[in-house]
Amino acid sequence: MENTLKTHHRLLLTGAAGGLGTALRDRLKGNCDVLRLSDKVGLGEAQAGEEIVLADLSNAAEVDAMVAGVDTIVHMGGISVEAPFAAILQANIVGAYNLYEAARKHGVKRVVFASSNHVTGFYKQSETIHADHPARPDGFYGLSKAFGEDLARLYFDRHGIETACVRIGSSFAEPKDRRMLATWLSFDDLHRLITACLSTPVLGHSTIFGMSNNAVTWWDNSRARHVGFVAQDTSDVFREAVYARTQAPDLSDPVAIYQGGSFVKAGPF
Ligand SMILES: NC(=O)c1ccc[n+]([C@@H]2O[C@H](COP(=O)([O-])OP(=O)(O)OC[C@H]3O[C@@H](n4cnc5c(N)ncnc54)[C@H](O)[C@@H]3O)[C@@H](O)[C@H]2O)c1
Repeated sequence: MENTLKTHHRLLLTGAAGGLGTALRDRLKGNCDVLRLSDKVGLGEAQAGEEIVLADLSNAAEVDAMVAGVDTIVHMGGISVEAPFAAILQANIVGAYNLYEAARKHGVKRVVFASSNHVTGFYKQSETIHADHPARPDGFYGLSKAFGEDLARLYFDRHGIETACVRIGSSFAEPKDRRMLATWLSFDDLHRLITACLSTPVLGHSTIFGMSNNAVTWWDNSRARHVGFVAQDTSDVFREAVYARTQAPDLSDPVAIYQGGSFVKAGPF
């Protein structure tokens, strides 16, 4: 693969059964000798170059076994949409704590953490923000990702574990609506971004927005140049088709006002 740099022996991918885990399963094999796949649901048979260790992120003992022996972690696992707080608490907050504790115990040096644009979902679509803007979560889900980012910073400051907090925009095969023309991240660019995070010589604790090279954007990654991510895809090629099949937004609707889109109104409260 053109953008792959093999930097690790045993790489753990959590959330491997999910949408992005499935997209990354083949792509990440080039980044390591052995790809360890994990999820709480089944992943089928391990293929060549793979091993499978199932774990529920909320179970510390299972997470410890999942992490033992790996060099680095790409953490995609967890609840990926708005949900009741009790569920978010277990999968995303306790889960992230269990992951970093296991990483500390087992000497893992670098983590790529799937954070989210919903950490900053209450900024307006007419604003451009960068990683140093304060968090403005748009729900419990975004709040849990903000916790994960702070947790990662604590484990960097105390224990030197480097993390890239990747605030993924919308990573799907194609942008589905007008909002995603700004937030879209192609699967290949997601892999390029993870490869950059895994291979840059000094990562530290870094926050980077995960987006392709889209003409319309709300996010400025100029403070994460050291990561070395250069997007090669763009949502612009989908613009005409997306406009043809979607309505113009109601500009008085919070969904069109705020960067978080429909997430700013989603959920149990
Ligand atoms: N897809 C996107 O556009 C997008 C945008 C922003 C952030 N993200 C983040 O990227 C990651 C992957 O997203 P996705 O779209 O593939 O989500 P997904 O929901 O398709 O996959 C998440 C996976 O995590 C697993 N999981 C959930 N709870 C778990 C638990 N307690 N223990 C173990 N595994 C558990 C699920 O079984 C699932 O396979 C998520 O952390 C999500 O929050 C994704």
